[in-house]
Parts: sequence; structure tokens; C-alpha cells
Amino acid sequence: MIHLPDTFPARSSALAPALAPAPAPAPTPAAPAEDAPQRYFVTSFGCQMNVYDGERMGEMLAAQGMQAAAQRQDADLVILNTCHIREKAVARVYSDIGRLRRDDGTTPMIAVAGCVAQAEGEEIARRAPSVDIVVGPQAYHRLPQLIEQARRNSSGGGKAAVDTDMPAITKFGSLPPRPRQPRPTAFLTVQEGCDKFCTYCVVPYTRGAELSRPFGELVDEAEALTDGGVKEITLLGQNVNAWTGEDGRGRSQGLEALIARLADISGLERIRYTTSHPNDMTDALIAAHAQIPKLMPYLHLPVQSGSDPILKAMNRSHSAASYLAIIAKVRSINPGIALSGDFIVGFPGETEADFRATLDIVRAANYAQAFSFKYSPRPGTPAADMEDQISPEIMDERLQRLQELLNQQQQAFNQTTVGKRTRVLLERPGRKPGQLVGKSPWLQSVHVIADGAKIGDLIDVDIVSAGPNSLAGEALAEVPALSKDEAN
Ligand code: 5AD
Ligand code: SF4
Repeated sequence: MIHLPDTFPARSSALAPALAPAPAPAPTPAAPAEDAPQRYFVTSFGCQMNVYDGERMGEMLAAQGMQAAAQRQDADLVILNTCHIREKAVARVYSDIGRLRRDDGTTPMIAVAGCVAQAEGEEIARRAPSVDIVVGPQAYHRLPQLIEQARRNSSGGGKAAVDTDMPAITKFGSLPPRPRQPRPTAFLTVQEGCDKFCTYCVVPYTRGAELSRPFGELVDEAEALTDGGVKEITLLGQNVNAWTGEDGRGRSQGLEALIARLADISGLERIRYTTSHPNDMTDALIAAHAQIPKLMPYLHLPVQSGSDPILKAMNRSHSAASYLAIIAKVRSINPGIALSGDFIVGFPGETEADFRATLDIVRAANYAQAFSFKYSPRPGTPAADMEDQISPEIMDERLQRLQELLNQQQQAFNQTTVGKRTRVLLERPGRKPGQLVGKSPWLQSVHVIADGAKIGDLIDVDIVSAGPNSLAGEALAEVPALSKDEAN
């Protein structure tokens, strides 16, 4: 799923459990050179996995003794953590690099990280000579060395420090443990990479092969996040439901077992996961939606197109009917689940009839939320060389028709929650005085005035009205008392 998620504001410290363990000590940093950067700023583009990577890069630099700059202008190292999924995302990176030039003509040290770094490598520094570091998504644990190399290179007027390796040993073991997270929600990458090779997609090339992080490492990270006060964790992966690992007894397990284990963590109230592939949607994972109350009733399951010939040309290895059969199974065990999806219009060769099949599958599946995109040819992918590329005008027109239908469905879904009483996890202040904004179990934003409540509280709310993108709710008069964990 590609969208910019909400940012997470600092949560009231009153909620932090008093007995939470102190974060593991940071490695003692070597004395930095005088011209070494002191303050960093990370900007992440694209998907939630980039947001997660951006956080881990920042945490690693902080562990080395650097400080987070409050704003980009104050930083002497700026990391642009980039997205390569569509052409527009790439163009943004280059315009952003240009904007980093200061009034006096100087620039901070600039690192380009993420999928553009992986795909374009040294080419970036050729096209944008102010770039000092190019580091791929599987190599960012080496940022401190790259910074040092770039510092030495720049005093010699030299070239950028480039690392786009995809080492066999994962970066995660080389990153410092997570510090306390003063916020209610957090991401946790459990799986990376993709072996599916959809013909339009760059991910298998930029993120590499599917790789699952080990069970124990993930439980430890989730516990550390929860100890700091996190109440909701979203498990992330390009194919999150392809996650597999060995449990404590050496048995091979799927994502549902990881979710079940995380649900045992006291203080962790909500679990989500994204993005799933239809082919990895096992019966056991579907069953988890009925068996694990902490698993939220929301499923992001991209279909991309409703036309079988287009799905075949996309190498999706599922059909429209097999996708709908999965949805039917999910709804048979959890009828109220909110379904979300991704769509591409204008894939090469897409006819009006193919596009109508997409509208048909949308009508049949009935989405609560969706992300839809115009096909963007990505260099090096098979679809970029296919005949019958679709004109921009036709793509625009189809996207508009699709989005109209998806918006109607989203509004209708939101409307079904009006009059319901539901739990909302408060995440950030709203625009109006006294207003807080949180998320419903179905991932809708809910605006609520709740006297005495604070960010990080899970409160009961009566939903009173629904707009296309959010709900308004009234908090019950009594804000629930602190739970035992919080009171201790
Ligand atoms: N053009 C348009 N959309 C794309 N996506 C992936 N690659 C492309 C592309 N080349 C979309 C898919 C995917 C989401 C993450 O981005 O819908 O599910
Ligand atoms: Fe890209 Fe397809 Fe892999 Fe998703 S499943 S990351 S769309 S190749």
C-alpha cells in the first residue's frame, strides 16, 4: 500500500509505565571529526516500510551521538528516503535535492536512501552532484561508515559514497535496539522483498528476494515498543502474509502464529498487518480474524485489476474469481471486516472491456478504502516494453471513473458505522480546541471531543456522523480508568 501515513505526535508522558526497562545502552561513539555532521533529518517518501526504515536510520544515528534536527533547514545531514514505485515519486526526489541548496549556495551533506538509491545507484550522484551518499534499502546499517567516507571524500572534493549491496545477512541484526517510543502506534517490518515479479513492479529489483525476520527478534522488538507505551503495532512487509518463521519449539509457522504470539503481550491492544498478496492468504490467517480479538477487522488485499487477461499479463497468478473467493471466505468468518485494495488502471493492452471488469470486481468486492493508480512504466520491468501502452487521456478518464465508484463505496462504508459505539485509539490532536483524532478498528479517522482523554487512550465513542474521509464521534461521558498496567 503506497500512501503517506499520519505522522505520530509525541504522546503524553503521563502514560509511560513507570517500570519500563531503560533502553539498551547505545554503542559508545568514536569521537567525531570536527567537520562530521551533528544533526540529521530524515524525509521518507512512499510506503510505510520506508517510514519504518527512516525511523531506524534516525535511531541508529542517534545511537552514534548525532541529534535529530527539528526541521530540515537546521540539519547538516539530510537523508531522502526515496520511493521508486511510480515515475512521479522519482521526479520528486530530484526536485527535493535541488531545494536543499541554501541561500549561500552551500548544501548539507545529502544522502539518498531507499528504492531510488537501489535502482539508480551512482547515476544519482552523476545527475545530482550535490548528493554525497547513495545507500540502498538493504545497506543502511552501514550509514555511519558511509557518512565518514563522504566526509573524507568531500574534503578531497571527491565523489559520492555509494552502497547498494544486498548482503545475505540482514541489516536488522546490525541496528541498535529500539529506544522507547513515546507514541500510541508503531510500524514493525516483519518481512521484506518480493518473489512475485508482477510485470509492472520494481519492488523485486529494489528490495530483493522475500525474507522473513526471525520470530524471536520480532517478539523482542514488539515487546520493546509496547514497553515504551505503543498500543497498536502494524506488521509490515511487501508480502507480509508470506512471512514465515520458526517458533520457540522449532516449528515452522505462518503470520497468524506471529500475530497470536504478539497478542499475548500485555499492553499491546491492537495488531494490524499490510500488505498482503492473495496467493499467500491462507485459511489459517483468515481464521485468525475470527480467533484473535486484538487483530483489527481490516484487510488490505490488492487485486490490481478485475480482468483475467490483464491479471495474466501482470503475472498476478490469481484470477478475479479466485480473489473474490478469498474475500467470501474472509467475510464468512468476519462479516464486518473492512476491505481495502490497490488498483492500477491503464496497464498496457487494457481495453474498455478489461477496465469494466475492474469496475465489476470493485462492485462485487465492496471496498471500505482503496488506493488506485495510473500505470507508470518502470524502466527494466517487463511491462515497460509491452506493446499497446495506454494514452494518458484514457488513463485519466478511467482513473476518474474508478475513483468515483471507490469513493462511493468508502462513503457508504463510513455511513454504516454511524450510530455504532466503538473503540477509538487517540493518536493526535485535532484542529479544533479540545478535539482529538484517533482510529476506529476499521482504520477510519475519528474526530472526537473527549474531556479528560489524552493521546494514547483507547476510549469508547458513539459515531454520530460520517464524511467521505473521516467520522465524527462523541466520547462517552466517562473516560475509562487507567488499566492495571498503566496505573502501576
Ligand atoms: N504503476 C502504477 N502503480 C504501481 N504499483 C506498483 N507498481 C506500479 C506501477 N508501475 C501500485 C500497485 C501496488 C502499489 C503498492 O503500487 O497497485 O499494489
Ligand atoms: Fe510488486 Fe507484485 Fe511484489 Fe506487490 S506482489 S511488491 S505489486 S511484484
